[in-house]
Amino acid sequence: MSENKYKEITRVTTHVLQEMKERGEIISMLTAYDYSMAKILDDAKIDVILVGDSASNVMAGHMTTLPITLDQMIYHASSVIRAVYRALVVVDLPFGSYQGNSKEALNSAIRIMKEAGAHAIKMEGGTEIMESIKRILSAGIPVMGHLGLTPQSIYKFGTFEVRAREEAEAAKLISDAEALAEAGCFAIVLEKIPAKLAEQVAKKVKVPVIGIGAGSGVDGQVLVLHDLLGITKQFSPRFLRRYMNLYDGILDAVSSYIEDVKLKDFPNEKEQY
Ligand code: KIV
Repeated sequence: MSENKYKEITRVTTHVLQEMKERGEIISMLTAYDYSMAKILDDAKIDVILVGDSASNVMAGHMTTLPITLDQMIYHASSVIRAVYRALVVVDLPFGSYQGNSKEALNSAIRIMKEAGAHAIKMEGGTEIMESIKRILSAGIPVMGHLGLTPQSIYKFGTFEVRAREEAEAAKLISDAEALAEAGCFAIVLEKIPAKLAEQVAKKVKVPVIGIGAGSGVDGQVLVLHDLLGITKQFSPRFLRRYMNLYDGILDAVSSYIEDVKLKDFPNEKEQY
């Protein structure tokens, strides 16, 4: 891309997202973990790219998001950053990189910003991680919150069921969201909670609320790219809309290639020197 083209692109910043909420423009967000996919997303003009710790499932084949390391997140994030000219790139702090204490949390956030060149970080949890959130924010690093179903706590929850159906958990979620916004988080992800509750939170807090399985009454939507493209087949929650069936498409293409190679149909005359 030429320097002039770069200058023409208006980058999505945390301030742009805030303005979008204020004028009622819905925010689009998707995950990406590598250069090639991030480039397509950025060309499509996605607003936010999340280098999610779902890379642990999607890219590495783990059952949960717990095993992915800070070094691995930095590797994924730096690949994404090299592709992106427009979108805001947010990177998950992985499990174990911030729960210990606020100094460790700040060091992890600094590594992601410095080594990957990320624009912001995301952390799962409410008031229980507030000290770390405040310390990271005070270093000038934008923080996105994440409440509701927080996959890093899956062994505490025990299931991937909808969260905050009960009054007490819903009340805690509302007060956590208010505390995150008050502390200075620039946005909050709400995962797998009742649509009415998510809408209530989006109305209550001033910062953008991005939903995944949280209905349409919020300020933006996020999905895992590989789920939307139909590359992952084993995961079919009700909230997921698949826009492609790429698993079968790739399977067909690879099977055709294997057949052509075996039959010596590939390469043909025109495909050689
Ligand atoms: O890691 C991830 O992909 C996420 C989204 C599900 C929001 O946190």
